[in-house]
Amino acid sequence: MFSRITGIGSFLPGQPVSNDDLAKRGIETSDEWIVSRTGIRSRHLAAPDETASDLALEASRRALAAAGLDAADLDLIVVATSTPDFIFPSTACLLQSKLGNRGATAFDVQAVCSGFVYGLTIAEKFIRSGSHRRALVVGAEVFSRILDWSDRGTCVLFGDGAGAVILEASDKPGILATALHADGAHHGILSVPGSICGGKVIGDPFLRMDGQAVFKFAVRVLAEVADECCAAAGIAPSEIDWLIPHQANIRILEATAKRIRMPMDKVVVSVDRHGNTSAASVPLALDEAVRDGRIRAGQKVMLEGVGGGFTWGAVLLEL
Ligand code: UT7
Repeated sequence: MFSRITGIGSFLPGQPVSNDDLAKRGIETSDEWIVSRTGIRSRHLAAPDETASDLALEASRRALAAAGLDAADLDLIVVATSTPDFIFPSTACLLQSKLGNRGATAFDVQAVCSGFVYGLTIAEKFIRSGSHRRALVVGAEVFSRILDWSDRGTCVLFGDGAGAVILEASDKPGILATALHADGAHHGILSVPGSICGGKVIGDPFLRMDGQAVFKFAVRVLAEVADECCAAAGIAPSEIDWLIPHQANIRILEATAKRIRMPMDKVVVSVDRHGNTSAASVPLALDEAVRDGRIRAGQKVMLEGVGGGFTWGAVLLEL
């Protein structure tokens, strides 16, 4: 028993917000600084009443339509998010209710920017075990809610959005190899170190980051896990048609590609228009590249995540 992606969808809220728009809103920054350090030109930001499950709903409807399925056909719903609607119930259960599905297994995955790769790998294992046949895997984030808009070193980097795939049981391989890792010793370099207790926020409710430590860690593990996943599938990195790393920063993407000797014209880049959308970044980029015809059926695609925890992982698949 194998699993294959049979439908992909994504959703971005509102209109693009440019770097100049951020500067006009009073953030002491410039388009020149943001573009040269990150490659980001614009991002989308959710409206105050738009939640992760709202964005997930639109992306999921598009993925279901692409697969030719109804929500009732799903028996597994996995949502990767670090910005859930509530502490509980899970965003997956809220999405299930909005989709009108009843009875499927549904839960959230918390692996920050590696969340989609974690969620897809988990769904793959459910399907390969024979217990489930049709999974919806979503990455959905409203990171704008956890940004300190007075911290120019972080607030310009992130955006909101959602991406979703349908993963179905198949007798033909789709997902070829997976690898997931974490090292909690690095929890302090990227975190939202707050909690709610007794009706109050305890600690800090905003994203905090040691940018340079994250940069170095991300490049090293993205290169290592790409090699590991290729070795597990018995292929060379040069046989990958498309690399879709987590879209954090163009310099991280370029450095990773260089380390695994992958030319940049085989790397899907959306960070310039989406910013870093955490768990949503990989499925958003995948959807864009499939819909515009770059990624074609039968090609080998490697998805990579890296994020807070620290967590990292890769999924090698054939579309
Ligand atoms: O999912 C993973 C998410 N994390 C990441 O992708 C972050 C990885 N890290 C990075 O991409 C980079 O470390 C950053 C883009 C975050 C920062 O770039 P950097 O080259 O490491 O800059 P820096 O933090 O060392 O700051 C350099 C200067 C500082 O000014 P001084 O002290 O040299 O006068 C900052 O205050 O740039 C200043 N600065 C800004 N200036 C204009 C920081 N943020 C901004 C800003 N606009 N938005």
